Amino acid sequence: MSGSSSISEARWLAVTITLTTLSAITISVAAAYIFKRKCNALKSKITELESSLNSCSDKCASERQGRIRAQQLLRKQLTQPKSQNPNLTCYPMIPIGTVHSCFSTRYGTPRQPLLVPLARACLVFNTSRVPPASLEGLADYSHCWIIYVFHLNTDLEKLWKHPSQSGFKAKVRVPRLKGGRKGVFGTRSPHRPCPIGLTVAKVEAVQGNVILLSGVDLVDGTPVLDVKPYLPYCDSIQDAAVPNWLMEDNLFTVASVSFSEGFTSSLENCWIMAEKKSLYASPGEFQSLVTQVLAWDIRSLSQRNRPHDVFMKKEKDQLLGDTYDVDEHLDETTFDHKREQDSLNSTEVIYHLILEGLDVSYRIDQDGNVIVEKVSTFADNKLNSSYNYLTWKDKLR
Ligand SMILES: *[C@@H]1O[C@H](CO)[C@@H](O)[C@H](O)[C@H]1NC(C)=O
Ligand SMILES: *[C@@H]1O[C@H](CO)[C@@H](O)[C@H](O)[C@H]1NC(C)=O
Ligand SMILES: *[C@@H]1O[C@H](CO)[C@@H](O)[C@H](O)[C@H]1NC(C)=O
Ligand SMILES: *[C@@H]1O[C@H](CO)[C@@H](O)[C@H](O)[C@H]1NC(C)=O
Repeated sequence: MSGSSSISEARWLAVTITLTTLSAITISVAAAYIFKRKCNALKSKITELESSLNSCSDKCASERQGRIRAQQLLRKQLTQPKSQNPNLTCYPMIPIGTVHSCFSTRYGTPRQPLLVPLARACLVFNTSRVPPASLEGLADYSHCWIIYVFHLNTDLEKLWKHPSQSGFKAKVRVPRLKGGRKGVFGTRSPHRPCPIGLTVAKVEAVQGNVILLSGVDLVDGTPVLDVKPYLPYCDSIQDAAVPNWLMEDNLFTVASVSFSEGFTSSLENCWIMAEKKSLYASPGEFQSLVTQVLAWDIRSLSQRNRPHDVFMKKEKDQLLGDTYDVDEHLDETTFDHKREQDSLNSTEVIYHLILEGLDVSYRIDQDGNVIVEKVSTFADNKLNSSYNYLTWKDKLR
């Protein structure tokens, strides 16, 4: 029983082994077959990828060729004389940012940079044109150059839409020469064939896509074309010469700035609303700004010669505060001469300086003493800046 059983077990085992071997062979054959098929599939895939890579490279090369050709064509067109190429006479330079400045109107905006150290502005970059990373490294400099557009010039439309009849004047009246004329390129008049301004400002802080600047001579809303770091080792020229007429500085300072009794309370009343949008910490700091701005005689030449209340005129935004030729001319033609004769006693004229949308009214007496009367909210207050003092508090001193 046990012998026959062991024989049959051995037979069974042999059969099992044979079957197992057979099935192993079958599996190997099948695996080899599958492997071969996979290999073939991969090979054809590689061939396919190779050919698509080749066609991509060809496409890239031809695109590159096309780009180079287009660039060459553009360069050629740009360097061709204007007469042969009447269509391509401008370069597509679109502003990259906008200035939100304490100077709401041109009147009071300093004539040169750094004259008013407390003059603050936020330069807000358009993030769809310049990513915030472009500002990386700028905060390491104390000052920067700003290239901008004189967007409030009254002659812009004529200059741009009808350049041939713009009547562009080669000479401008210079305030320091009491109206004497100089060639436009011998001055920094805003009325230039290309109304582009260049200024320098202190970099107080950089945050995201915004720079906080101080010492600015830029009016609110100024479009900015470029910003570059100020490099004292090459930008500052120790022995640079200027004409004598620029050395006589006394023309533009006032004798003193004082505040009337009611000033403080009128400012505090306005401050309740103004604080939320102000770049200044307190009414006291705002008052310091007023003092610094009015320490200069900000009136135009014609205002100084014939004191008159510019503010009462409808065209106030157009006329407020320009000393150069084009606006002097406007003064002549738009003002009511009778009124001017009535107001020759300068002490009676009230001037209005708009800072951060607040209307600061003041008088100036015959001896050049400024008396600041009061502050009120300006009816046309367009200022709606979200970059107020709180945004910058930790970055200022
Ligand atoms: C130039 O502009 C005029 C119209 O402004 C147009 O008809 C003409 O096709 C343009 N020429 C070229 C070379 O683009
Ligand atoms: C920012 O730039 C984009 C694209 O150039 C433009 O469409 C948009 O009007 C600009 N925004 C401002 C606030 O200027
Ligand atoms: C100008 O007006 C002030 C105050 O109204 C007056 O005190 C002064 O005498 C006047 N001066 C002249 C030259 O009329
Ligand atoms: C000022 O901005 C706020 C929010 O940023 C907005 O709700 C308000 O309408 C704006 N006011 C004006 C006058 O534009």
